[in-house]
Amino acid sequence: MVAFLAKQPVAAFHLFHRGALGYDGASGRNRAPEVLDLAPARSCLAIVLAAGEGTRMRSARPKVLHAVACRSLLAHVLDAVRQAGGTMAAVVIGPSADAVGAEAKRLLPDADIFVQAERRGTAHAVLAAKSAIARGADDVLIIFGDTPMIRPQTLVRMREALVARAAIVVLGFRPKDPAGYGRLVLDGGELVAIREELDASPAERALDLCNGGLMAFAGPTALAILERIGNDNRKGEYYLTDAIAIARAMGLKAVVLETEEDDVRGINTRAQLAETEAALQQRLRKAAMDAGVTLVAPETVFLAADTKFGRDVVVEPFVVFGQGVTVEDNAVIRSFCHLDQAHVGKGAVVGPYARLRPGARLEQDVHIGNFVEVKEALIEAGAKANHLSYIGDATVGAGANVGAGTITCNYDGVAKHRTEIGKNAFIGSNSALVAPVKIGDGAYIGSGSVITHDVPADALAVARGRQTVKEGWAARLRGLKAAGKKKPAAE
Ligand code: UD1
Ligand code: CA
Repeated sequence: MVAFLAKQPVAAFHLFHRGALGYDGASGRNRAPEVLDLAPARSCLAIVLAAGEGTRMRSARPKVLHAVACRSLLAHVLDAVRQAGGTMAAVVIGPSADAVGAEAKRLLPDADIFVQAERRGTAHAVLAAKSAIARGADDVLIIFGDTPMIRPQTLVRMREALVARAAIVVLGFRPKDPAGYGRLVLDGGELVAIREELDASPAERALDLCNGGLMAFAGPTALAILERIGNDNRKGEYYLTDAIAIARAMGLKAVVLETEEDDVRGINTRAQLAETEAALQQRLRKAAMDAGVTLVAPETVFLAADTKFGRDVVVEPFVVFGQGVTVEDNAVIRSFCHLDQAHVGKGAVVGPYARLRPGARLEQDVHIGNFVEVKEALIEAGAKANHLSYIGDATVGAGANVGAGTITCNYDGVAKHRTEIGKNAFIGSNSALVAPVKIGDGAYIGSGSVITHDVPADALAVARGRQTVKEGWAARLRGLKAAGKKKPAAE
């Protein structure tokens, strides 16, 4: 496996080759065991705030259930939490957001779900998970559910900064346009307060170091700080950001960790969803190339967060990967392919213009050519279907050749049925295989056949009208036409 390991979190990834299959495209993220090795060996509660209404998405779906790189915003965040060694997770959802709670449970079955009945600010949301905080984790991470590009190594870095005796770690960044963000107020290099824009003085508004929103709290002092936060501000909300000044007044230290904007990129609108998709795609493409994949025109290839590649895979321009795709070493995905929940074996060649749907499993050296659709089918080593075919609910044996235009007729209007094609079988062009049906090893199907019964191994089956030939018939027709007469009868 080629996996990512963040030696220096946030800095470049290090690659480790561990055999056959490749990189986990998940935003260049480390796989869990590698990161867990790096995360401080202390308990960590991650509180994910997802109670926002997401009104500006103008959607019937809760905001954090929208997807980038084929994965919900919440799933991205929870994956980062898991990889950063979040041993406990609490997800704060709004009332009537059962779907959000269900998604959280699906991803992290041990997560605690808390409902924030009224939306009264970020600190109020955190305190919805008070009972989880009271259980006394060493580190408490507070993360927004709508910042899907947060990297686990950034969370690990925040935890490391806690170890260095800070009570609070704030993630800072310098956005191109700081409007709307809380400003980090420093005094002699020390963080003294965070001022929300509405409450900021003109001098404070001029500051360009902003609050990314995510914070880490040292567990032992977290509740004492959080419970002192009031709502005496322009919005009358309980601001998590007030924690900084409170901690200082308690004689505790708060520090800033600066990071890149992508880490804290929040999503409020569909336009920001698209911008985040673009930024995430860039990150995924770069990680794939760093891991040894050739992307001929990277900006035209769309990856899913979980796309996995072996080494020396080549992806030609204009290819779309849906979720759950694995491509093994030396495979070539030619232009204009769409793959979704599919497996491409070593050295296989797919496309141009092929579609691999869920359950398509291509073994080594398989060729799937133009305008071929494969669904829920195992194509064994070396088999070929090079042109214009539909192969669904099927097994194609090793070395078999599926001729142009062959269709597995898998659906009878009521149920789906399977087609089994034996090893080294030859299916003549434009055949229809009416499932359920079995073609034996080495059998031969004449072109244009409609096969409704099983064919034994090594047999020939031809199932089509016999050809008849009428000598001179066409010449007679032309003669009659020239004489202004009618067409002759066929006999
Ligand atoms: C927050 C920060 C601001 C920072 C910015 C970065 C505060 C007070 N301000 O502002 O300093 O620059 O993020 O993006 O923390 N949420 C709840 N329940 C609530 C309120 C919020 O669950 O009652 C959740 C939201 O769903 C969202 C997150 O908390 O995921 C942040 O809330 P939001 O209102 O977007 O905070 P900002 O005003 O952007
Ligand atoms: Ca926000």
